[in-house]
Amino acid sequence: MSSSVNATSENGVAVVTIDNPPVNALSFHVRKPLYEALIALRDDPAARVIVIACAGRTFVAGADITEFGKPVEQPELRAIVALLGTIAKPTVAAIHGTALGGGLELALGCHFRVADSSARLGLPEVKLGLLPGGGGTVRLPRLVGAEKALGMIVSGTPISAGEAKAAGLVDAVFDGDLLAQAVRFAGEMASAGGPFVAVRDRNDRLAEADLAAFDAQAADLARKARGLEAPLACAEAVRNAITLPFDEALAAERQLFLKLVSGDQSRAQRHLFFAEREAAKVPGKDLQKRKIGRVGIIGAGTMGGGIAMAFANGCFPVTLLETGEESLQRGMAMIEKNYAVSVSRGSLSEEARQQRLGLFKGSTDYADLADCDLIIEAVFEDMAVKKEVFGKLDAVAKPGAILATNTSYLDVNAIAASTSRPQDVLGMHFFSPANVMKLLEIVRAERTAPEVLATVTDLARRIGKVAVVVGVCHGFVGNRVLSARGAENEFLLLEGASPSQVDKAFTDFGWPMGPFQMGDLAGLDIGWRNRKARGLTAVIADTLCEQGRFGQKTGRGWYRYESGSREPVADPEVEALIRAKAAEQGIAPRAIGAGEIIERTLYPLVNEGAKILEEGIAARASDIDVVWVNGYGFPVGKGGPMFWAGLEGVSKIVERLEYWHAKTGRAIFEPARLLRRFAETGSWEG
Ligand code: 3HC
Ligand code: NAI
Repeated sequence: MSSSVNATSENGVAVVTIDNPPVNALSFHVRKPLYEALIALRDDPAARVIVIACAGRTFVAGADITEFGKPVEQPELRAIVALLGTIAKPTVAAIHGTALGGGLELALGCHFRVADSSARLGLPEVKLGLLPGGGGTVRLPRLVGAEKALGMIVSGTPISAGEAKAAGLVDAVFDGDLLAQAVRFAGEMASAGGPFVAVRDRNDRLAEADLAAFDAQAADLARKARGLEAPLACAEAVRNAITLPFDEALAAERQLFLKLVSGDQSRAQRHLFFAEREAAKVPGKDLQKRKIGRVGIIGAGTMGGGIAMAFANGCFPVTLLETGEESLQRGMAMIEKNYAVSVSRGSLSEEARQQRLGLFKGSTDYADLADCDLIIEAVFEDMAVKKEVFGKLDAVAKPGAILATNTSYLDVNAIAASTSRPQDVLGMHFFSPANVMKLLEIVRAERTAPEVLATVTDLARRIGKVAVVVGVCHGFVGNRVLSARGAENEFLLLEGASPSQVDKAFTDFGWPMGPFQMGDLAGLDIGWRNRKARGLTAVIADTLCEQGRFGQKTGRGWYRYESGSREPVADPEVEALIRAKAAEQGIAPRAIGAGEIIERTLYPLVNEGAKILEEGIAARASDIDVVWVNGYGFPVGKGGPMFWAGLEGVSKIVERLEYWHAKTGRAIFEPARLLRRFAETGSWEG
């Protein structure tokens, strides 16, 4: 018996234990001995019943994702699940931690599933651009019904053991020693006698499926898929489970899986899965972390309030500091309102709301920050104000407290230098709304201590953020690249494109919205103020702002919005303004296609990413992908800008950048050295 699969037997109850740290993925070196152990036990008359359990922190978390794209080694998961179907004696999966993907499919091959009360069960393959390929789409609907299965498979979101029990996915939920109770349960089942019906043969839930309702639900999901193939394939496979005999539906699932697994979208999404985990591997990650108890937040505005909620949601006590009672009350009122909305939507219980609000302490006195282990500043974006705040913090914060700034653009080295402890200072750049958005750019300043970086990276994970460590430059990785992406926007309009044409090119590419819609949502006045502060102008956007067109909040911006609606409507006034400005500059409008829009916006995005890599502001190309997918809505199915560059063809990108550089002379088009190098070597290294 291999060390990754062990079988023991006592009083006729055989226990097969999978032990493949860290998450018991079904790698080849697990599948083979598991298959062999099950055959041996099937044929062993002394074994009355078989329990499949896992060692370590979790039940099987799925197929081994690193094996996708490589030649398949037998036996496959499907063969193991099929083998389980040939075993007449009762089989029981004992689930703790998470049963995900192929892990849940393995459990679905058993007659019974029992779970620890804290376990979670799901089929998250869709998040990897896949569908469950081990029979999940045909077995899960047989237990929980087609509509529930469709929801679980298309969202990829796991459900709790309690919900799984209520839905019919698990047969019993236990607290305490799971294995002991699973063995007892198995013994009872064996004593009760058969026949034991395999999941594949349970058809009553499917018989009651309402195909019209299912199709309506599937059509709704298809609309939201935004160019992703996997959600559609998931819906097709679950529909097959209703309409086709088991074996035909299973074969169809296999074909769909094979198509997805070899496609670019799944490759891109698998790249992102590993990229997010890689991003957390910072130098010094194994150093002793500083203890973080209470968190102080300075500024209860848009960002401060959201950051405070992010920490309270992670069960950290928070001290929220403002300049005066009125602004403090305004900030707290916004936080209370946000939690109340969550309760009314059913995403937060009343008990949790009270518990979270109980973690807040408001103050207008810096001395109240003395017991905080981490203090995050989120005041106005003004260097003088930030320096003053850090000077005060230096005076009150306890030794060893970590001092962070949420600045979007400012020089974190200069902020750190305004304290006597630059080793404790770094940037924590959250994204709005900070309690929702997953991305956190952790800005490492010149003198930030490695254990401070490691502590904050660890902490980010504890509050559910995807963290990427970046270096100091204007706008760090995200906002700096954003400027490059938007640099041609006004030129495109002046030369003949309309805001809706540009936005459509973006949404067709897979973005949730285009840059002009995004501007209207965020508020055009923010960029206007920033430009004025930096002595910059934008010929059309400045005029819109001078006319009081700030976007959705004023009902007019790049688009018009009917009262109360968020639906953008093309506005002839804006068209006229664009044409007038173009005429002033002697530019005759011409037709601009989607291809040109992509070349002039997304190629500079990739190019700026390469410059950032060259300068060491990002440690890896995949870090830039993680930033752009989690912070700016770059389509997951394209894997982030740097991964997409590979799909698009870096040589082609370099060639077109050269073309636009020659034509316009603008620096954003000048190909980065690293981009040229990639075109030659196929690698971002060096
Ligand atoms: N295959 C290979 N490696 C995996 C893996 C998997 N299925 N799941 C996790 N890992 C690796 C991670 O890459 C990480 O490696 P690292 O330490 O070298 O970076 C390590 O295991 C620990 O993972 P996490 O850092 O994510 O650990 P957490 O404790 O935070 O989370 C988890 C655990 C919830 C299980 C999470 O890892 C997860 O969601 N895993 C993916 C689950 C999944 O997508 N399963 C479906 C796979 S596809 C499939 O089963 C197809 C089938 O239908 C045929
Ligand atoms: P905001 O204007 O909504 O809030 C700032 C708050 O800070 C105000 O409530 C103000 O009263 C308070 N304040 C000002 N000086 C203070 C002081 N000395 N002590 C205590 N409180 C003080 O601004 P917002 O949008 O929250 O931005 C804050 C910071 O976050 C800025 O640096 C900004 O660049 C950054 N940021 C903003 C994002 C956004 O989308 N709004 C995204 C990421 C970062």
